[in-house]
Amino acid sequence: MGCCRVCLILLAIVPAVFFGCLSVPGVERAYIRAVDTYVVPVPIARHLLQILAQARHIWKVGGGIAVGPVWNPLLSYAIDGPKTGVGLFPSPSAPATGYMVSRISHASVREVHYNPRLKRDSKMFVTVDTAKVPEGYFLPGVLPTLLQLNTDSEARYAHRDLIAAVMPALAENPDTVPDFKPAPGISVDDLIHGVSRHLIFPFPEVVPHVVQDVFAFTFFRHAFEVDLTSDEIYSLKEWLRVHFRTIFGMGSAAGGAQCAQLAKVVEEKVASGKIGQRLMDEAQSRGMNGPERLRKTLFELSFAGFGGDGPGGALATFKLLRLLQRAPQTNIPLFKRDPAAFVLEVVRMHGGGGAGVNPWIAEETRTHTLGTGFAYEETAGSYGSTIALMANHDPAVFGGPHRTEEFATTFMPGRENADRLLSFVAELRDIRKCPNVTGCVHAPRFCLGTFLVQRLMIQIGTYYIDGLEKQHPREEM
Ligand code: HEM
Repeated sequence: MGCCRVCLILLAIVPAVFFGCLSVPGVERAYIRAVDTYVVPVPIARHLLQILAQARHIWKVGGGIAVGPVWNPLLSYAIDGPKTGVGLFPSPSAPATGYMVSRISHASVREVHYNPRLKRDSKMFVTVDTAKVPEGYFLPGVLPTLLQLNTDSEARYAHRDLIAAVMPALAENPDTVPDFKPAPGISVDDLIHGVSRHLIFPFPEVVPHVVQDVFAFTFFRHAFEVDLTSDEIYSLKEWLRVHFRTIFGMGSAAGGAQCAQLAKVVEEKVASGKIGQRLMDEAQSRGMNGPERLRKTLFELSFAGFGGDGPGGALATFKLLRLLQRAPQTNIPLFKRDPAAFVLEVVRMHGGGGAGVNPWIAEETRTHTLGTGFAYEETAGSYGSTIALMANHDPAVFGGPHRTEEFATTFMPGRENADRLLSFVAELRDIRKCPNVTGCVHAPRFCLGTFLVQRLMIQIGTYYIDGLEKQHPREEM
C-alpha cells in the first residue's frame, strides 16, 4: 500500500518537475540539443525523448499531431538548423531504427522544392507502401496521386492541367466567388463553443468536429460547387478518419470496405454537380477516363486539402480560429486591417496543411553534419523530407534587418518577405509568376490549394469574428 502511494506521488512529481524545468528559458533548447547529441545513436530513444518534450506545448498549439515535432521551430534553432540546413527525422521505412535527413533551412528546403527533376516513390503514399494496403482504401484510378509523382512527370502536369482547367476556385482571382453559407445545422455560436472548449481541453480530436464540418462544407462549396448535407459531411470525415489509419500501418480488410463505401457517397455527390460533370467531360475529351479522374481528384483534394482530423485546410483554419479566440482584443483589429496578410502569417508561423514535401528520393550519397557535430550519411535512393515551418522561421529570410530569431518568431502580418514562405512548396511570389495553377518553370511544384485555402480561411475567419462580436460587443472584449 505504502509502495503504491510512493509510486503515485512519483508519477505526479516526475512529469511536473520535467515539464517545469523545460519551461525555464533556454532549458528546452539545451534539452533538444542534448538529446540530438547524446541519444542520437539510438533512433527510437531519441524520437521518444524528443516527442516527450513537445507534450508541454499541448495547450499552446493543440493536442495529437498538432504538437508533433514538425511544428516547433525550436527543434531547428537548437541544432543550428538555419546554418547547417538539416535535421534528422524518423525514416518512413524503419522509424524505430533509422533516420531520414530533413531539410529545415529556407535555402535547403527551397533547393528540394524547386528541383525540377525531384524524384518521388510512386509506390509510397506519405508513409504507406500502397502495395501492402488492403483493397478499398485506394479505389481504381486513384493511384498514383499527385504527391507520388516526380516533379518532371508528364502525368503530373497533365492531371494538374485538367484540374486547373475545370476548377475556377483554385485560381488566385476567379471571376466569381461563392458567398459564405453556414454549414448545415451548425451556428456560429456552436463554432465558437467548439474552438473555446478545445482551448481548455485539446482532446480527443486534433481539429474539433465543428471546425472540420464548417471547413468541409465551405471547401466543397467553392471547389466543387456543391453544398454537402450533414450526412455527406459525416461520410467525408469518416472516410478520412478510417483512411488515416493506414498511415500508422493499421489498415484492414474491413477498413478498406468501409472506405470504399464512404468514398462512393461523396463521389456520387460531386459527380452530380457542375464541376464534377465538367471534370469528367473534359477528362474524356483529353483521352482520360472521366469517372476515374474524378475519383482521383476527389481523393487528392479531400486528403491534401480538407485533411479531416489530420493535416489539411481544416487544421490550418483551426489554427487561425484558435488565435482569434485566444486574444480577440489584439487579433481581431489586426485581422480586420488586412485579412489576407493575417491569414498568410498564420500559415507561415503555424502551418496546418502538409508539413513539407515528404518523402522524396535522394539522388546522390552525401554526408550531412548536424549542428551538434553528428555526421550522417544520406545514401542515394534513401528518403528525404522537408519541413516548411522551420524554413519559414529561418532568420536569413524572416529575421528582419538584424537576422534574428526573435524577429522571425514574431507574429507580424504584412512583414517583409511574407510571400517567401515555403508552406505551399514554392514561394507565393514565384507561384504568382505562373499563368495558372498547373505550374511553370518559376514554380515547378506547388500546392494546388494555395489560393483557395487562403480565401476559405478569410471567409471563415470573418464569419467567426462577426459571431464573436455579436456575443460580446467590442467594449466587453
Ligand atoms: C494551409 C493549408 C495547406 C498547406 C500548408 C498545404 C501544403 C501543401 C504541401 C506542403 C504540399 C506538398 C506535399 C508533398 O508533395 O509531399 C501540398 C500539396 C498539395 N496540396 Fe496543399 N496545402 C494546404 C491546403 C490545400 C488545399 C485546401 C488543397 C485543395 C485544393 C490542397 C491541395 C494540394 C494538392 C492537390 C497537392 C499535391 C500537389 C502536387 O504534388 O502536384 N492543399 N500542399
